Amino acid sequence: MKEKLEQIRAKALEQITQMEDHEASAALEKLNDVRVNILGKKGELTAVLKGMKDVAPEDRPKVGQMVNDTRAEIEAALEKAKKKMERALREAAMKAEVIDVTLPAKKNTVGHRHPNFIVLEEVERIFVGMGYEVVEGPEIEKDYYNFEALNIPADHPAKDEQDTFYINGDILLRTQTSPVQVRTMEQKKPPIRMLAPGRVFRSDEVDATHSPSFHQIEGMVIDKGITFADLKGTLQEFAKELYGPKTKVKFRPHHFPFTEPSAEMDVSCFKCGGKGCRFCKGEGWIEILGCGMVHPKVLRMSGIDPEEYSGFAFGMGLERISLLKYEIDDMRLLYENDVRFLKQF
Ligand code: DAH
Repeated sequence: MKEKLEQIRAKALEQITQMEDHEASAALEKLNDVRVNILGKKGELTAVLKGMKDVAPEDRPKVGQMVNDTRAEIEAALEKAKKKMERALREAAMKAEVIDVTLPAKKNTVGHRHPNFIVLEEVERIFVGMGYEVVEGPEIEKDYYNFEALNIPADHPAKDEQDTFYINGDILLRTQTSPVQVRTMEQKKPPIRMLAPGRVFRSDEVDATHSPSFHQIEGMVIDKGITFADLKGTLQEFAKELYGPKTKVKFRPHHFPFTEPSAEMDVSCFKCGGKGCRFCKGEGWIEILGCGMVHPKVLRMSGIDPEEYSGFAFGMGLERISLLKYEIDDMRLLYENDVRFLKQF
């Protein structure tokens, strides 16, 4: 019995040691075979235990002890070999996954803000600093808000189908951001100080200075006792903030149906300082916006009593300001999304 056990032990340990020369994953499988063949239900050591009934009763404890010792020794050897192989497998996997940090990295190109957006944020910053709130209105607008409520009569040339994208008789793509004035007055009680930037649409052919879709920034103030002096002071401050402290402004009488009186504002050419150059076409001045005192009819239609309140409004083309600021000579460049152009700003 003793020799038999010794034989099993020696065979098992030898098989286990041999295993260590095999490839780890195959060896792991074979280790399991060794376990089953020796320690399993039909294993060799189990067979020895079954033979205990033939051992003399007084020898049984001693033989039992020997069987247990042999079993423990083989189990320990199996466990040790298994751990070693698992470690080898892990190391092999890590080696296979290794990253070569010396390879040149992929170029990571980071985008940035569009010139139009840089200018919009600058304009917003200036007006928010003066207490204005930035609001939005719909791009698909009712004829009523785009024209009628702004005192633009039915037969006005601005309503011509040549200039406006109609969806049906009542609904159109807004041709200006001015309808947001009316929407804001309907929703809010004065005092109102609002800035409404957004996309507008006109049935124009594309060229260096026209696009069927462009952007405007609308502004409006309504309160008690607002005068044309407030309008001039505000827009002068704005121009100085945007183009520098030396900038001068000039107001020329103009006509808009929704303001009375109305004006266009020019700024002294920031290229030549007003002397006249190629940039300002020798004028010394550059027109940047339309403005005026909100027409009493418009106030009344929007539910505001013109006897109690007055206000001013202004509207400017965002693209025009971007083109001037960055000295870009073709508006189409702002829409083509050519990275070679955009990355210059
Ligand atoms: N909506 C006008 C346009 O598209 C611009 C404008 C002029 C807006 C005078 C105003 C304003 O608010 O007071 O030409």
